[in-house]
Amino acid sequence: MSQNDLLFERAQRVIPGGVNSPVRAFRAVGGTPRFIARGEGAYIVDADGKRYIDYIGSWGPMILGHGHPAVIEAVQRAVTEGLSFGAPTEREIELAEEILQLVPSCEQVRLVSSGTEATMSAIRLARGATGRNKFIKFEGCYHGHTDALLVKAGSGLATFGHPTSAGVPEATAQHTLVLEYNNVQALEEAFALHGKELACVIVEPIAGNMNFVRASVPFMTRLRELCTESGALLVLDEVMTGFRVDLRSAQGHYADLIPGFKPDISVFGKVIGGGMPLAAFGASRDIMKHLAPLGGVYQAGTLSGNPVATACGLATLREIRKPGFFDALSARTRRLVDGLSAVAREQGIPFCADSQGGMFGFFLLPELPQNYTAVMRTDKEQFNRFFHAMLDAGVYLAPALYEAGFVSAAHTDADIDATLHAARDAFRQALR
Ligand SMILES: Cc1ncc(COP(=O)(O)O)c(C=O)c1O
Repeated sequence: MSQNDLLFERAQRVIPGGVNSPVRAFRAVGGTPRFIARGEGAYIVDADGKRYIDYIGSWGPMILGHGHPAVIEAVQRAVTEGLSFGAPTEREIELAEEILQLVPSCEQVRLVSSGTEATMSAIRLARGATGRNKFIKFEGCYHGHTDALLVKAGSGLATFGHPTSAGVPEATAQHTLVLEYNNVQALEEAFALHGKELACVIVEPIAGNMNFVRASVPFMTRLRELCTESGALLVLDEVMTGFRVDLRSAQGHYADLIPGFKPDISVFGKVIGGGMPLAAFGASRDIMKHLAPLGGVYQAGTLSGNPVATACGLATLREIRKPGFFDALSARTRRLVDGLSAVAREQGIPFCADSQGGMFGFFLLPELPQNYTAVMRTDKEQFNRFFHAMLDAGVYLAPALYEAGFVSAAHTDADIDATLHAARDAFRQALR
């Protein structure tokens, strides 16, 4: 038995399903999850000592790769100064200033400890600021596991959602309207029916929780217009895309495509913590003034703005701001997706892929899907065979077909070449 098998058996005795976050259990792809002993640059090493090229990067945060010297040094220094004070520190201001410099749509940010907490607080802020309760989310977007966001579509545009999780009361879901991503007509109809009651619309600008699906420019343009017309706030969930798809985050990329585009509230996580528990939400001063202690929207956290996490996040942001960083990361990620597409074409396999900055997705489908239903047309068995063939060859992809992938600055051309080599064999063995 491998160490991974032994650890999984032991873990399942004391932790539900053996994991502390469900996707880690490999339920979608089958087999034993790898227990990671350490990370080194672009690689992770499992309990059996097997090394993998890591395309998960802790689901996004590890944009510099594992153990970047500047990050390690900053964290070690912070640890010696103190782990947590529950009082403000200068580093929180520095991190807030760093974020605001890169994201001009925000004038203030509040730091929290997880993406879930940040989106939950952003929705509460939107409700508090507008005095309205209802909001829209989109099928296939994930915004963390807050009750009001674990909701699937009701039977039509007039009906609000139903919980997707046991333990979420129907009453909590009744203010959440779930629409199809990239569907402008559904958006128009929903706003015509409910526009004046909507506190906000929350959306992943490039959805990374149904693999990799971009919001189309017409969709994002109309969404912005409808929110403005009806007084609903546009909440961009950039927990995954923030400082990952562009130095200015996805909103900077969309501002290049849609002149004047900006969200009302932005949510960040992952990269801004560099691998430590840290997330944030931000907006104009006018919106943020509703938050306690200034306003009536309550929000707090014992470990919010933790000194070690802020040191880690600051060191990470300072590295990714260096000239040329994003150009190099984007080019390397593009090389991976173009290479995978070429290898698949050579093997006669229906395949398409896309990337932005250091985030990518690929589909065993002939063309890029625009919404969740289309993503789910992927042949799951084929994906699982491909996933396991790649894993055996030392390439660690996301263990589910509806997850995005991530390249770090530590990945070299040689790593990409090795990945393409493995993919050629995997396509040959697993998919023909
Ligand atoms: C877009 C998005 N929002 C929110 C979250 C929740 O973040 P966390 O897992 O830190 O609670 C995630 C997590 O993957 C995410 O991808």
